[in-house]
This record gives sequence, C-alpha cells and structure tokens, in this order.
Amino acid sequence: VLTHILDTAASFLEVSNREVKKVPLLRGKSVFNLFFEESTRTRTTFEIAAKRLSADVINLDTTRCSTAKGETLLDTIDNLVAMHADTIVVRHPTSGTPFLIAEHLKRTGQHKVSVVNAGDGGHAHPTQGLLDMFTIRHYKKSFANLIVATVGDILHSREARSDIHAQRTLGVAEVRVIGPQTLLPDEIEKLGVRVCHSPEEGLRDCDVVIALPLPGARLDTTRLPSAREYCNCYGLTAARLALARPEAIVMHPGPMQRGIEIDPEVADGPQAVILPQVTFGIAI
Ligand code: CP
Repeated sequence: VLTHILDTAASFLEVSNREVKKVPLLRGKSVFNLFFEESTRTRTTFEIAAKRLSADVINLDTTRCSTAKGETLLDTIDNLVAMHADTIVVRHPTSGTPFLIAEHLKRTGQHKVSVVNAGDGGHAHPTQGLLDMFTIRHYKKSFANLIVATVGDILHSREARSDIHAQRTLGVAEVRVIGPQTLLPDEIEKLGVRVCHSPEEGLRDCDVVIALPLPGARLDTTRLPSAREYCNCYGLTAARLALARPEAIVMHPGPMQRGIEIDPEVADGPQAVILPQVTFGIAI
C-alpha cells in the first residue's frame, strides 16, 4: 500500500509541474480542514492538494469554532457532516482524536465520510511519514541498503513514529534514532531501531539524516535543561554532518529552529532537501 501511494504521488508531482495543475478527481466533494493546532505546511498543503483535485475546500478557524464556546468536538463534527462534508482533515494536540472521530462516524452510520489524520498529539503524522518516504525514495531510489538516522526529541515526535513505521515497512536497512535518554520513549528498540545516544555514533556513515523540531516555547525542562544544552549536544552542525556519507541528504519536517536543532549552514547547505520535502507533500 505504501509503495502504491508513493507511485501515485509521483504521477501527481508531474501534474503539479504542468501549467494547468487541476484534475477533476474530487469535483463536487467537500473537504473540511479542521486544525486545532498551528500549522504552516500541512494545512496549506492539504488545501492546495484538494483544490488541485477540484474539491471545495473549507478551512475552519478553530479559534472561532463553537468548540471554543463549549460545544463538544463530536457535536462540531456532526454539524460538519450535516453540511455534507465528504472528508474531514484533522490536526489535534490530543493523540487519538482522528480515531475518535472516525469511530463516532462509524457508530452514527456516516461511513462515507473520510477522516484524515493530519497529526495527532505525539502519536502519528501519517502524511509527513509518507512525504518523508517519498523524499528518500526520490533522492536515493531504493530503501534497501540505506542507513537513516533521526535525531532529536523522539519521545514527543509524531513525525518520528510515523517515519519509523514506514521505514521498517519499506525495508530500510538500518533505522537509527539519536537523542538523550530523556527524549527517547521506553523500549523504543522494540520498534526495530538502533538507539544511539550521541550524534557522533548515530550519524556515522548514514545516508539520510532527519532532524526533528524541539518544542520551542513548550520545552519541558524536566527532560532537558535548555535549548542551548540540546544544541551543544545534539544540534546538527556541519562538523557532525561530515560524519555521514558525503552524499547524505538532510531532512527536517518543520517548523525548524535554526541554531537549535540545525545550523543555518546545514539547513541552507547543498545536502539539505527540506524545501523539496514541502513540495513533495502536496503530491502525497
Ligand atoms: N511538518 C508539519 O507538520 O508542519 P506544520 O506543523 O507546519 O504543518
């Protein structure tokens, strides 16, 4: 299924390079974007993609939704269904919210309404995982024989979880995670990853480096003394990147904090494919 999605996205990448970018696949369908958390890439990407597929797109401003006045989330969903929503794209800070909505729709007989997870809490970010796999395949052609290292706050990262599942499914040779013990989930090795506590160990000879966002204003100081400490020990600098293979690519899901997770000379350097990731996200 993953390979089928990546192959289909490749054909949409060609469409997005055309002068006329629209296709009629979702003509007459309504896509509701329901983002209860800040987003630049995912929300905009879903809007562009749905418009290119000729859907009607409704972006709800959740700060002005009636959930802010005490309406339950599921009552809000029922109202969107009453407005003939065909697809509801949900970003929510609480893990499991899209599942909760999907179960509710099944229970209430609304089987035809699709729910797409655009990132839920620390659980999963499936479309990020898919666009990351698309990016890796685009630059590396195959997943076999690759060493992919993800560095950062694995514990809170929905991107890391979706990436790890996808990498294991697609046959990446070695999946590494790099971070301090306090930012790694217990028993993460059971997902089939190699745990490295230093970038010097984890980045050596890898083909792909994925740097993760560190929660800025919400930094949990019981797990990490400061962002500066994190940067000193785990920030992706040019010197650290030099440990990877010379043709290694550098990815970051965004939002990116320069000088904390990644040095500007790496983020803007020749190995970075951070902006192509965003472009590929529309096709995915
Ligand atoms: N990668 C990602 O989810 O970015 P946004 O939060 O901007 O959507």
